Amino acid sequence: MGTPGTKATRLRNSSSENVSAENHFESVVEKFALQLNAGVEPEDAYRSLVSIEHRKRHGQFFTPMPIASLMADWILSVQPTNILDPAVGTGVFPRVLLDKRSDAKIVCVDVDGVAVSAARASLNGHSGITVLQQDFLTWPDEQLFDAAIANPPYLRHHDMFYPYDIFSLIGRKNHTSLSRLSNIYVLFILEICRRLRAGGRAAIIVPGEWVNANFGDTLKLWLISRGLLRSLIYFSHASTQFDEALTTASILLLEQPIAGVGRDSIRTVFVHDGGALEAVRDALEGEAQENDPNVVVQLFSPEQLLREKKWNHLLAHGHTKAIPGFVVLSELADTRRGIATGSNSFFHLTPSAVGGLRIRPQNLTRCIGRALDVAGVIFERVDFDRLVASDSRTHLFDMQTEPDESEAEYLKKGVAERLHERFLCAARSSNWYDMEKRKPSAIWAGVFGREGLRFILNSERVANLTTFHCIYPKDESELFAAALTACLNSRLVQGLAQRQHRVYGGGLLKVEPKDLLDVEVPDLRKVGNQTLENLKLLLTKLDTAIRTGAGIAEVQSELDARVQRTAEEAAVGST
Ligand SMILES: C[S@@+](CC[C@H](N)C(=O)[O-])C[C@H]1O[C@@H](n2cnc3c(N)ncnc32)[C@H](O)[C@@H]1O
Repeated sequence: MGTPGTKATRLRNSSSENVSAENHFESVVEKFALQLNAGVEPEDAYRSLVSIEHRKRHGQFFTPMPIASLMADWILSVQPTNILDPAVGTGVFPRVLLDKRSDAKIVCVDVDGVAVSAARASLNGHSGITVLQQDFLTWPDEQLFDAAIANPPYLRHHDMFYPYDIFSLIGRKNHTSLSRLSNIYVLFILEICRRLRAGGRAAIIVPGEWVNANFGDTLKLWLISRGLLRSLIYFSHASTQFDEALTTASILLLEQPIAGVGRDSIRTVFVHDGGALEAVRDALEGEAQENDPNVVVQLFSPEQLLREKKWNHLLAHGHTKAIPGFVVLSELADTRRGIATGSNSFFHLTPSAVGGLRIRPQNLTRCIGRALDVAGVIFERVDFDRLVASDSRTHLFDMQTEPDESEAEYLKKGVAERLHERFLCAARSSNWYDMEKRKPSAIWAGVFGREGLRFILNSERVANLTTFHCIYPKDESELFAAALTACLNSRLVQGLAQRQHRVYGGGLLKVEPKDLLDVEVPDLRKVGNQTLENLKLLLTKLDTAIRTGAGIAEVQSELDARVQRTAEEAAVGST
């Protein structure tokens, strides 16, 4: 087994090259220090002294200060007590970090002795800084960090020289399997994240190719499924921000989730040629608004991003280009499917059946099973009572107690019909007839629709079978639920949802609960109570119009205009 590392490291270990390389190395370090004393920037000094071949061999491209500063701000906001820079080069990051926080404790690593000496010289022996000459990918130290910042080397697999399969080693350590076509920076990203403490942040700049390349698939899935990716900045014309020959660049802003994996949306910032870095900063701080036409800001759910194989077009144009004031529904609500009984005819009963079978009220839950039973967009006590009066299926046989004689009789009938052997009933952990526990939701969403989706304010908080999905607003007030239902029923919101194609599985108007999470709605958290009241009023109007069949188009137009104004108010509210 030879020494792992890049070709250059191994050359220095071989006898004939050794002398000249070391001599050259020492003179470079000396000249470097002289240039620094003369006030030359470390990166300029390094470029003038170290050959392009050496720099290319180690993937040595330097991060411009304004970009390094933006990255530093991301990690410093968690007040890290220790920071890792695993590919320090001449020390751009530690310098910018020390500028912002003079007591920063930073562990710097670089495999190249020339770079390590340059970093040490440029950092001027600062006490908080440790610079190690070490291959980061084989670094045995297992300490965790509060933050990491990196511009990893860019090297293809045929330029990496490890005497063993480094891809499978790093893959195993990070519980994934990596394609050998992965660039070395992918290995760096994984290893950096592995060393991040819960709540820790990393800012990593790498070329942009992974967002479209096949080898990027594993990385995307790995980052997103672990809830690590918070924001992604993509520079389509990196040459405008970087002096050196990068065509595209991307900055990953990562955060190790504290508990479990969140379902947060991911912010993407696509920077066209001419996009200003200031606008990128604004985009990161603000709420998905665009101040610069060359900077496209979007919010995606993890599912949306994972569904798309190549991200380049998506990030630039997006199927869900974030509109100021809109957010994906997942920001405002959770969704679940309705109750699956295993046998609706057995469990979902009419009032007369309930009476005949003598099932006690404590073992019945009020429940809706058919879309047809819900006339408008608000479901109230009178609607439920009407269904009861017409002897519709309105009660779910939902055993909460030990069965009495008549209930036991009915259950026996179920067994005789072999219901207990049916998939859903057999899968239940306790009794085959135990119902799923599902809190009635404030809003129902129709699973199927012809012209659009239908959302119903479930004022009466009646349970529902799978004909509806459940929407649970995070704000539990009735006013918020009513306003959200109004927005969801507007043609404006439904039009946006349709533009996203995938909201509707296979082009059909059938939605899954998780599809609903991608629907964009005005950010109702950012608007005043009066606006919520106005939306509620329009929901009532729409309900009446639908029930009477009169004036639907007029109310829809009024609602669209109101929803638009709501979004505008939300956009202002988020600045
Ligand atoms: C793209 S440069 C970044 C330098 C500096 N951090 C910056 O942003 O300007 C990458 C650095 O990683 C170093 N490097 C290459 N392979 C490495 C490895 N396996 N482990 C640690 N450092 C490595 C190179 O020597 C180079 O200095």
